[in-house]
Amino acid sequence: MDLVITGGTVVTASDSYAADIGIRDGCIVQIGQGLEGAERIDATGLLVLPGGIDAHVHLDQPTSDGTVMADGFASGTRSAAAGGNTTVLPFALQIKGQSLRSCVEDYHRKADGNCHTDVSFHLIVTDPTPQVLGQELPALVQDGYTSFKVFMTYDDLVLNDAELLDVFEVARRERALVMVHAEGHDAIKHLTRRLEDMGRTAPFYHGQAHAQIAEREATHRAISHAQLIDVPIVIVHVSGRDPMEQIQWARARGLKVHAETCSQYIALTADDLRGLNMDFEGAKYVCSPPPRDADSQAAIWQGLRDGTFDIFSSDHCPFRIDGTGKDTPRARTSFKWVPNGIPGVETRLPILFSEGVSKGRISLQRFVALTSTNPARLYGLYPQKGSIAIGADADLTLWDPTLTRPIRQTALNHGCDYTPYEGMDITGWPVRTILRGQTIAVDGKVVGTPTGGHLVRGTSEAFSPE
Ligand code: URP
Ligand code: ZN
Ligand code: ZN
Repeated sequence: MDLVITGGTVVTASDSYAADIGIRDGCIVQIGQGLEGAERIDATGLLVLPGGIDAHVHLDQPTSDGTVMADGFASGTRSAAAGGNTTVLPFALQIKGQSLRSCVEDYHRKADGNCHTDVSFHLIVTDPTPQVLGQELPALVQDGYTSFKVFMTYDDLVLNDAELLDVFEVARRERALVMVHAEGHDAIKHLTRRLEDMGRTAPFYHGQAHAQIAEREATHRAISHAQLIDVPIVIVHVSGRDPMEQIQWARARGLKVHAETCSQYIALTADDLRGLNMDFEGAKYVCSPPPRDADSQAAIWQGLRDGTFDIFSSDHCPFRIDGTGKDTPRARTSFKWVPNGIPGVETRLPILFSEGVSKGRISLQRFVALTSTNPARLYGLYPQKGSIAIGADADLTLWDPTLTRPIRQTALNHGCDYTPYEGMDITGWPVRTILRGQTIAVDGKVVGTPTGGHLVRGTSEAFSPE
């Protein structure tokens, strides 16, 4: 064997046991005791986890007002690797009027040869023309782009109900999976106007404009559309109790509704958007849906425990707080101009481990399921990814469950100039990330150049409708 990892505790979504792992040609070839190989990594005292899979990240996406994202593929995957991830799933965003195929080619040009981790793309469909629905989307699903996101809000991205139904119909026919950003556009616009009329323009009011009622309504509408078409969907970045209850309502009726939540909904609240004194600091936390309150946090924890949530992602969508990102003269006139999104690909695993496993809220197995195995299953990458098993890619994260230190921007690897989690105490950090048998990060720093990442494609078998 090329490499053996010895003395660690192997953790999967269903098990935990002491074993060595043997690796040859980038794959796991043996799991047992007393293994030997050309190279040896001593994992005594460490957990050996399947590499993290962050199924929701935004890298190098253009924005409608020209604001540039803080991470491209090199820095975004560098940050991901340092945070214990071996695969990320970013989006190829179709600009209205653009062919979906040329959009995918654009993102490949950005990503190819620039990644520290493996990458698998979701599509974002913003312009479901007959050409896109009838030809491009089916052809791209055949080529392995088996998941696509649709938006129920944002002026430049929103689909109306007829368009949503059309996209769902194609997904059913092609056995693809639709990810839904569920927030009601008209309700948000109405609340935004009302708040602006009252002079309530600080970042804090973003949270009020993106009310949980608007998220709940859109979640139910998306579920109803999916039921009508009989297609599985994923409700992404679920923020609180109300939309979560809609997902439970759907599941109780046997509907195939999957759900994702993210770090910000367990680690932040709407109060963070106040800044120090309703000041612009609050823009650091502006994302959609916004963080809610302590009651919603408690509900999200319950959902993480009981299986309401299949996956836990970061929704990494980084904009610098300086004058090139969130803090612009226009953004100072109204929260509605503050770019939505926060960084988090590097802190996702430590936050869930520390708040979840270290504090006794979820088991180690659940941690692995939410952060690696389930994302791989949902998006058709399993069992090559997301598992520790003979024949799987040797994508592994060695984890020190006792290492305690706070999150600090100065120690992070992303291209953003702040972290919304500054100072948060964390117990449990990744100490080595291994991609197909090659170490890509050690103790929070990447090793090597961003050329080792592969582009991987999904299959639609895992979630095909009956
Ligand atoms: O505020 C957020 N989440 N921005 C990223 C885009 C999205 O909706 O996921
Ligand atoms: Zn979204
Ligand atoms: Zn997102």
